Amino acid sequence: MKQPLILILAMSTNLLFATSSVAQEPISIIEAANITEPEKVALGKMLYFDPRLSKSGYISCNSCHNLATAGVDSLATSIGDQWQQGPINSPTVLNSRYNIAQFWDGRAKDLKEQAGGPIANPKEMGSTHSLAVTTIASIPEYQKLFADNFDNNAISIDTITDAIAAFEETLVTPNSPFDQYLMGNKQAISSNTINGYRLFKEVGCVGCHNGPAAGNNMYMKMGVVKTFVTTNPAIGRQALTGKAIDKNVFKVPTLRNIELTYPYFHDGSVWTLEEAVTIMADIQLGKKLSEKDTQDIVLFLQSLTGDQPQIVLPILPPSNKNTPKPTPFIL
Ligand code: HEC
Ligand code: HEC
Repeated sequence: MKQPLILILAMSTNLLFATSSVAQEPISIIEAANITEPEKVALGKMLYFDPRLSKSGYISCNSCHNLATAGVDSLATSIGDQWQQGPINSPTVLNSRYNIAQFWDGRAKDLKEQAGGPIANPKEMGSTHSLAVTTIASIPEYQKLFADNFDNNAISIDTITDAIAAFEETLVTPNSPFDQYLMGNKQAISSNTINGYRLFKEVGCVGCHNGPAAGNNMYMKMGVVKTFVTTNPAIGRQALTGKAIDKNVFKVPTLRNIELTYPYFHDGSVWTLEEAVTIMADIQLGKKLSEKDTQDIVLFLQSLTGDQPQIVLPILPPSNKNTPKPTPFIL
């Protein structure tokens, strides 16, 4: 699904998106969650918040994808087991169901495959799949919930990640002011915000940031026109494909809830939307925006903040004498 760079360079947004009808706007609305398996979702939510999936007994998915802060940790790069600093910025889990694939370089094909990664990553939760399974399986309440939700009853990394992915599927943010505008409420956003959206299309941002998530549906080079200056060692999709052409090619991130998910870019080096927009215009499009145009685009980006998932903290079942003890890290 990787789009050739030629495409974006040659692309005229007017040609691709030359229509004013709402249905054919390049950004479409976020749908409300359609929950078909509420019990599996509830189990996945417990696991998402359960720090016992980590070796230390201290780190949960929510540590780095905090649902009180739009599914991110608000750090340049994440902190994991042994207080180790991770190599890259934590993307939001909100609306991750719309992602073409998971991770900045797309190396996990879906949410289920992704969820196994951090549990066993020594720089993240620092556990192993077998320790995580033994821990969860030692708890009778979890045994019952897995039996209720999975045909073969078994607690395995497969069923654990399946349940977590079912929960993540529900983490969507519908009803943003911009979506209300798309649905026909012309008063939902200001005229400056509408101008920001017009500019977003006109200058070419929309060539990469489109679809319901305003991103997350293609891979593109970071630094099409000018090099992105960073000390971060990530090389993007080249790490997967080994091809020189994939150097610094990353998944185009979602712009949904972007006001809440600072700092920006894979190295987390930029803390304001004004700066992020200025850099994007410069290095992706070779354009210098006026202060007013930048401000209007920022207003548009802020209008993409939707209703945040309303989370009631799950109450987790207690450990017992069979549960492996946590190994907290001491400096
Ligand atoms: C120590 C911090 C940390 C923990 C704990 C953690 N993550 Fe992440 N997560 C990250 C980072 C950093 C990335 C980006 C890594 C990359 O792209 O190479 C990421 C990526 C993701 C993505 C991909 C999002 C996207 O847009 O590509 C999802 C989904 C996700 N994590 C879910 C989870 C789940 C579920 C758990 C618990 C099982 C979890 N994470 C635990 C830091 C963490
Ligand atoms: C050629 C494709 C492309 C174009 C055009 C483009 N972007 Fe991006 N955008 C990306 C990619 C790729 C990233 C992630 C880069 C990284 O961190 O390595 C990104 C990141 C961002 C981010 C930070 C997201 C985050 O969560 O860290 C913002 C904000 C953003 N773009 C806004 C814009 C705006 C506004 C424009 C137009 C002025 C624009 N982009 C034009 C591809 C593009």
